Amino acid sequence: MVLTRAYLVRTRRSVLDTDCTTAAPFYEDVAPIIERRCTVCHHPGGLEGTLRFGTYEDAFLLRQKMLFQVYSCRMPPSCAPDLTSDERQIMLKWFVCGAPATADAGSD
Ligand code: HEC
Repeated sequence: MVLTRAYLVRTRRSVLDTDCTTAAPFYEDVAPIIERRCTVCHHPGGLEGTLRFGTYEDAFLLRQKMLFQVYSCRMPPSCAPDLTSDERQIMLKWFVCGAPATADAGSD
């Protein structure tokens, strides 16, 4: 089992960056990705109008559901443009690092 894990870590092209001293802040890093990739459907009158993540408060409340969707590559769905690996990395780091609002909030 240990060998298998080491093998995976060595051969994967990108390993999740969990250095939370530089956590991706919501307003600067995460909100633009949500705006670009999610809001097209997740807005009132969109394909899925009840779940919204455009504001920090909404995104923070829904962060666990979002994490599951983004981590498992279920969202965005296959009919929409996928996240780039950089975008996925930024979102995952935001979840892992406690979903800070701003760069300062992540340093506690
Ligand atoms: C092409 C339209 C579309 C896009 C783009 C999209 N979604 Fe969705 N999303 C849906 C629909 C439709 C549902 C409800 C059906 C389902 O769960 O598949 C949904 C459901 C969800 C759910 C709830 C899943 C659950 O059942 O718990 C979450 C969380 C979510 N989306 C997050 C996101 C995030 C984050 C993004 C951007 C990275 C995104 N979605 C982009 C259409 C979209």
